[in-house]
Amino acid sequence: MPRRISLANANASHYLEDQISLWVGAYAMYVCVCNAINCRTVRTHIGAGAQSVGAVFKAQGCSPRCGRCFDTMREMIDEGKGANTSEPVLRAAE
Ligand code: FES
Repeated sequence: MPRRISLANANASHYLEDQISLWVGAYAMYVCVCNAINCRTVRTHIGAGAQSVGAVFKAQGCSPRCGRCFDTMREMIDEGKGANTSEPVLRAAE
């Protein structure tokens, strides 16, 4: 049964942030819909050394189609440079 929370509660935003992180971690959102590449897979390739969008596709053994995922992948690659790649990309607004 879903828990009800009060947004007036100071801890509500932390609760929501935790729930979003759990959801993202459990279901691994798709980054590239055309090739069914999810955020976990992208992070795995980045962690293995992929430094460009092309390198992610090459590591995955596929080619880009529509290109709508490029900006998101670039952001993930930029975040992965010198950062912990296991951290979720999605963050709650502060
Ligand atoms: S969403 Fe990645 S190529 Fe279309």
